[in-house]
Amino acid sequence: MANGLFRTKAVKTAAEHAPEHRLAATLSWPHLIALGVGAIVGTGILTLIGVGAGKAGPAVILSFVIAGAICAAAALAYAEMATMMPASGSAYTYSYAVLGEIVAWVVGWSLILEYSLVVSAVAVGWSGYAAPLLQAWFGVPMELMAGPHADGIVNLPAIFIIAVVAALLSFGTKESATLNAGLVVVKIIALAVFVAVALPSLDSANFEPFMPFGFAKSVSPDGVERGVMAAAAIIFFAFYGFDAISTAAEETKNPGRDLSIGIVGSMIACVAIYMLVAVAAVGAAPFASFANSPEPLALILRELGQPGFSTFLAVSAIIALPTVLLGFLFGQSRIFFTMARDGMLPVALAKVSSRGSPVRITVFTAVIVAIIAGLLPIEEIAALANAGTLLAFAAVAVCMMVLRRRAPDAPRVFRTPLYALVGAVAVLGCGYLFLSLPSKTQLYFLIWNALGVVIYFAYARRRITL
Ligand code: ALA
Repeated sequence: MANGLFRTKAVKTAAEHAPEHRLAATLSWPHLIALGVGAIVGTGILTLIGVGAGKAGPAVILSFVIAGAICAAAALAYAEMATMMPASGSAYTYSYAVLGEIVAWVVGWSLILEYSLVVSAVAVGWSGYAAPLLQAWFGVPMELMAGPHADGIVNLPAIFIIAVVAALLSFGTKESATLNAGLVVVKIIALAVFVAVALPSLDSANFEPFMPFGFAKSVSPDGVERGVMAAAAIIFFAFYGFDAISTAAEETKNPGRDLSIGIVGSMIACVAIYMLVAVAAVGAAPFASFANSPEPLALILRELGQPGFSTFLAVSAIIALPTVLLGFLFGQSRIFFTMARDGMLPVALAKVSSRGSPVRITVFTAVIVAIIAGLLPIEEIAALANAGTLLAFAAVAVCMMVLRRRAPDAPRVFRTPLYALVGAVAVLGCGYLFLSLPSKTQLYFLIWNALGVVIYFAYARRRITL
């Protein structure tokens, strides 16, 4: 029994899979950096910065530093694992090869949660920037652009944008990745404009008091969990996305070089951009004025008397945020695809269309994430997405450390520097961030995985084809 639960699976290279289950190798590192930055810079910096400010005050800057450091440690472990095992499936595949089947199942099940909910959360973030313009320009009623939690009926723009991205992905990988690269540039220009406009208005009074809600997560008198770590646990959302690159491993032409440049390069670029934006935002406006706004950066620019730049930022976000959706919906379909190919999920879903993309999974996922995006608040969706990601990141760091001991001489294209220290920072940091998530989120996450384990024993276990 225990042997069965912890049996491992050798990683197949793309060429070893049957043709109908094989993905086309069409991508190289510029596509991957674009896919990385495209998937990383998104709703985290554009929208959740407001949620974070509500939880930490000006010290949300510190939350960015903490979440970024933990994510960077995990990114290094990812780069090492992704280049050792350039196969579709990311943390799920590494766990299956190193830690065994039951761990792989839990990680894969958590990844499905992560990728799905990121798509939902980003679609709600997109809607936050689109809604004021849709109302002003076309008279769309606000009740149709927010879920019931925000006095609305359903968030139609969020559903709409998911449908558009799903249709795009169904046409095939390369076309989407090329369009993605252009949109990434739009997003970077928008954030650069924000920094250029907001930074000169920096007022040191806005940094006082710096840490009004303390450091560790604690419950405020109004029942909300706050503190620098509570904010970091949400802000963590802003930093991931590089893992979406590793799900494209089978589709890269030269996985060893392309994946390490893609993962490390996009992570470094994003950390630098975020620090500038966070300091500019907190310095330019009192944190309470933009806390929990659905479009905090546009709001700050309006408050600075720059409505033109505010509209420019909102329009750029509307045009460019779909790159994040693209990255994660792409990643989700690949995780699902890999698990189905292993027999863990219904194998009919793993069929690839004549254009080399798994259309059924893309459409199936899109319908579910659209329903969630239409009805639920962004903060709760993002927190649960983070829970799934934290587990996957910790698992990847453990895989990296275990393999260093078990196979010290295996060829490694990318070696994590100071691997024991970096691995420990990733594992312990992810653990601390998980404990800093809202208690409700932790409970939902446990329920999700309990359900997963039941499905494993009732369905997946008997069907797996090693
Ligand atoms: N890092 C991605 C974002 O901020 C998920 O939207």
